[in-house]
Amino acid sequence: VSPSLVDSFNRRHDYLRISLTERCNLRCFYCMPGDGIELSPREHILTDDEVIRLATLFVKSGVTKIRLTGGEPTVRKGLVDVVARLNELRGHGLKSIGMTSNGIALERRLPTLVENGLTHLNLSLDTLDPFKFEIMTRRMGHDAVLRSLRAALASGLRSVKLNVVVVKGLNDAEVLDFLELTKDQNLSVRFIEFMPFTGNKWDKAKMVPSSELLSHIQRQHPSTIKAPDELNDTARSYITPGYKGSFGFISSMSDHFCGSCNRLRLTADGQIKVCLFDAKEISLRDQMREGATDDELLRTIGHAVRGKQEKHAGMEDIDVVTNRPMILIGAPQLTH
Ligand code: GTP
Ligand code: 5AD
Ligand code: SF4
Repeated sequence: VSPSLVDSFNRRHDYLRISLTERCNLRCFYCMPGDGIELSPREHILTDDEVIRLATLFVKSGVTKIRLTGGEPTVRKGLVDVVARLNELRGHGLKSIGMTSNGIALERRLPTLVENGLTHLNLSLDTLDPFKFEIMTRRMGHDAVLRSLRAALASGLRSVKLNVVVVKGLNDAEVLDFLELTKDQNLSVRFIEFMPFTGNKWDKAKMVPSSELLSHIQRQHPSTIKAPDELNDTARSYITPGYKGSFGFISSMSDHFCGSCNRLRLTADGQIKVCLFDAKEISLRDQMREGATDDELLRTIGHAVRGKQEKHAGMEDIDVVTNRPMILIGAPQLTH
């Protein structure tokens, strides 16, 4: 990667997450503040051309993976176009185009997205119980998500993962049921520790440490084995012998993976955000709209990257007061 994407701890950032919208068609309580969010004025959101200009700059600087997020990326009008134009960056070294979606409005769109270059899909689904789905997302639509999951598994994507945010007393008893989804399907299920963000009523008591879930799974499946860690992966993965898929844990709280972090984020309103838990942001949009050249933008990116902290502040000290709510950072879930 170019020196602009290397931080002062020598981490090389070759993975860019681009949030395409602040809107969402669900309202998951852990992502969307209870009283809603104020959406940025339309003109503050990056246009397709601006997204592609920045993506091109990042890819030419060494980014090989791009993931589209939101809000919920499928609610962005130009989504297919954006994917198709990102696909043209393969010639400059882009290797994968992923998307994280809640699956509500995905089934119908999936074939076109895959035809236009989408390679990886992470689908958020926290419960297999339609009633609990409504409690967690404050919306209907469980069936639609299941249909999207089936469509994704049959679509020829290079990878399909299921994201399950585990919340004590809500869905933590479903872990073994989720594991069964991996028996006959090449699916990777990731159990995610509940993380604190502005307005999401995070409480340590609601967070289930991954170690507890692993012990629970191992009691039922004693022959579970650890899969080799993939470089820069958020998840630690395991294999259940005889199962086609795999499972893993994203333990941002109990065992963070900041040392191998390779991610940068671009918010829907055009800010570069170097860490999920760092409230500091720099606007690439404003600079672009003031007529900055690519070199000038790259200098700003380099400045932001060099300011990246070694790791987040840990469970007790994360700055949820000035940081954005998750919906505005890059999750699928929720809105107006
Ligand atoms: P892969 O490319 O498949 O590894 O995607 P991912 O796991 O990075 O992204 P996804 O959008 O599926 O997010 C899954 C969970 O990981 C969510 O809870 C994210 O908030 C969390 N996550 C993603 N990136 C980071 C990160 O850089 N730091 C931390 N602490 N958590 C992250
Ligand atoms: N803690 C953990 N994961 C979260 N996500 C959204 N909010 C949180 C949170 N507070 C997850 C979503 C989605 C991914 C992008 O982020 O479930 O899968
Ligand atoms: Fe990277 Fe920040 Fe996440 Fe740590 S908390 S892995 S540094 S984005």
